[in-house]
Formats: sequence, C-alpha cells, structure tokens
Amino acid sequence: MVLLRKKIGVVVTGGIAAYKATELVRQLVKAGAIVRVIMTKSASEFITPLTLQVLSRHEVLIDTFSENDTEHVQHIEFADWCDLVVVAPATANIIGKLSNGIADEIASTTLLAVACPCLLCPAMNTNMYQHPATQRNLKRLKKDGYYLLEPDTGFLAEGYEGKGRLPVITQIVEKLESIAAKHFYPQLLENKKVIVTAGGTRERIDPVRYISNDSSGKMGYAMAKIASFLGAEVSFISTKDHFPMMDNMDLILVESALQMQKEINERYAQTDYVIMAAAVSDFRMMDQAEHKIKKKDQENEKILWELIENPDILAELGQNKKQQVLVGFAAETQNLIEYAQRKLKSKRIDWIIANDVSQKDIGFNSKNNQVTLLNEKGQVVNLPKMEKIDLARKVWEIILNDPIIKD
Ligand code: PMT
Repeated sequence: MVLLRKKIGVVVTGGIAAYKATELVRQLVKAGAIVRVIMTKSASEFITPLTLQVLSRHEVLIDTFSENDTEHVQHIEFADWCDLVVVAPATANIIGKLSNGIADEIASTTLLAVACPCLLCPAMNTNMYQHPATQRNLKRLKKDGYYLLEPDTGFLAEGYEGKGRLPVITQIVEKLESIAAKHFYPQLLENKKVIVTAGGTRERIDPVRYISNDSSGKMGYAMAKIASFLGAEVSFISTKDHFPMMDNMDLILVESALQMQKEINERYAQTDYVIMAAAVSDFRMMDQAEHKIKKKDQENEKILWELIENPDILAELGQNKKQQVLVGFAAETQNLIEYAQRKLKSKRIDWIIANDVSQKDIGFNSKNNQVTLLNEKGQVVNLPKMEKIDLARKVWEIILNDPIIKD
C-alpha cells in the first residue's frame, strides 16, 4: 500500500544471494511499485539481466558506458528517477566502495548520485561480514544516513552456519514500506504514544485447555502498523506473536484478559491513543485447575465449571480518561449500530467501530473487513469492505480528521 506507484531502484551486486533479487523485484511489482534494476558485472555472473528485465518490465542497467540516450546520462537519470533505492544483496565490496565514495562501475557510480532514502541489505560470508573493515564501513554508512537491514543467521552457501544470509524477501519489503512511510506519509502521530490490542484472549481452564475466540489479531495489527507508519511509538499488546514488528513498535505478548489489562494500565497514563481491537473474553474460570482435568467415565455426564466475569478493560479506561483518545471495536452479530452506540456511551469512549462478525468474509480471521465508525459527537462514517490494512488507514484518517494521505 505504501509502495503503490513508488519508483524503486533495485541494485543487485555480486553475491550468491543475487538470485533472490528476482523474488524481491516480483514482490515490489506486486505491491504496486515501479521497479528498475541495476546489476554489477559480478551479479550478472549469478543471474541474467534478462530475468530481472522481464520481472521489472524495464531495461536493466549493467554498463556505465552503454549510453544509448543522448539526452541523458543513464546513471544520473536513474538516480534522479528513484523515490527509494534498495541494494540487495549488498556485498562487502559495494559497502566498502560506498563508505569511501568510490564510483568505478555502474552500481557504485549510480549509488553516489542517489539522493533519496537508500536501504542496504548486506549478505555475504560470515567472516567477511564480521571483518572489522566491513563493520567499520557499515557503521560509517549508517552515520551517513543509509538504512541497514542486518543479515540473518543460518546455513550459508559455504556449508556452515553463520550470520550473513540475506533476510527473507518479505522482511526487506516490510523494511522498505516503513522507510517509505517515514518519508512519504505525514508523521501525524509523531511523539505520540499509541496502545493497540489484538487477538482473542485465552482464559485457561487447565494447563492444556482454554476459552478463546476466533480473533486472529489481523485487524489490531493493521491498526498498529499504520500508527507506526504515521510516526507513533506503538505498544502492540497482543495474544499473537507471528506479526513482524515495524520501527517504533514493541510487541507485548499476553494471554489472558487480566494480563492484557495489567500491561495496558502500566502504560495508560503516558498514552495518547488506545485502540482496543482485541476480542477480550468476557469470562474466565473461577478456579483454574492446576493439573489437566480428567474426563469422567460416564458419557453425557453433566460437568459444571464456574465462570467469573472479566473486568471490562475499556470501560475502566473510559472512567479514568484524561488526554487519551479511546477507540473500541464492537463485534456484533445483530442490531449492529444500536448495540455499538450503547457500548460507545456505557464505556465512555471517543469512538466505537461497529463490526458485523456474523459474516464469514469480514470480521474474525478474514483478510477483509467492513465497519461503521461512530463517535460521541454523533458522527457516523460507513466504510465499505476492503483489506484490513487499507481499512486501518481510513480509520486513522477519520480519527485524526486529517485526509492528508492521498491515494
Ligand atoms: O482479530 P481479527 O481476526 O482481525 O478480527 C478482528 C475483530 C473482529 C476481533 C475486531 O475487529 C473486533 O471487532 N474486536 C472487538 C471484539 C470484541 O471483543 O468486541 P466486544 O463488542 O465484545 O467489546 C467491545 C470493546 O470492549 C472492544 O474494543 C473490546 O476490546 C473491549 N472489551 C471487551 C470485553 C472486556 N472484558 N474488556 C474490553 O476491553
């Protein structure tokens, strides 16, 4: 979404991970970016320029002196064209050249002319990566304003384990998204602290069983991701831990409603926005069994477990509200607006987002959602069905009353 129509220059240098540039280009094109590629001569030993030309749908530059266009100098034109540049894989050689201002072939010459944000993704043998010269160069490049994505540790092409692998491509794309957001999105939440809760809480019955619901955490994660794109410091208090964390986003993993409440309360006084997208269980076991509950021998025998109500976290936040803007979600299967309105009032919050969870293609665990926002001033905004990440962006625009983010 952030990369839509962004002009991205992909610079591929000569390491074994060069073949992974195909997937990077593919994913960037899929994200709606316009992609052009530069390859060093050594990179073209690992993968052909034609492959990247086909995937990027643009001519690949590999030679500084193949100047076919008399109007432009190609490496300058390329550098000026880019909104964002990513060097993946970035070898020790290109890192060394860049940190010393050397420009002696197409990649280094172009990179020296680049004035837009640039992400370096080092990938090489672990000893080359740990070498003091490489580390010194990387430190200097960071100081010069380059973005760096550390290599992964794992099985290397050399046949042994070490740090030096190119991170998975989705991670590179996510890093580019957060860099793009930082530079191209208005930083409406800069210096603001935001709590977002996500996922269904788990209320233990015994050590191996629990009461929960179908909330996947996707809606909350989308709200948290956009908040971080807008510059907020985000505490993502979630029952799910498989989401990649963006810049300025901390994962606080919780299980039960009581744990969630504790983590929120510890941060509440310093917080500006609380987005309660979590599906908090209304009940928990009165007494959680210490050991696995044994089944009774008799079929159809009634089993009675006593439940107790959990605290209503959001309602308590509403009672202690000062500067905070409080946003709740109302998951309903009937009388959507009426019930949502009641929750808005009874919990004394600023916004409620009415979410019909009776439909399979929206709400719980789906990619899409469709909601109605209601606020305490009587404003009502209907949002059509769309992907949760796009919806989260619209929701933030409405809450912040700032339509600066243009499509
Ligand atoms: O996670 P996904 O799969 O992406 O699905 C998203 C979602 C459907 C879970 C989400 O969009 C949503 O609707 N979340 C709220 C679910 C819910 O618990 O709704 P509720 O109507 O029971 O509660 C109203 C509000 O009070 C919610 O903001 C809830 O977080 C909060 N609450 C509820 C109970 C409780 N004990 N404490 C609370 O703070």
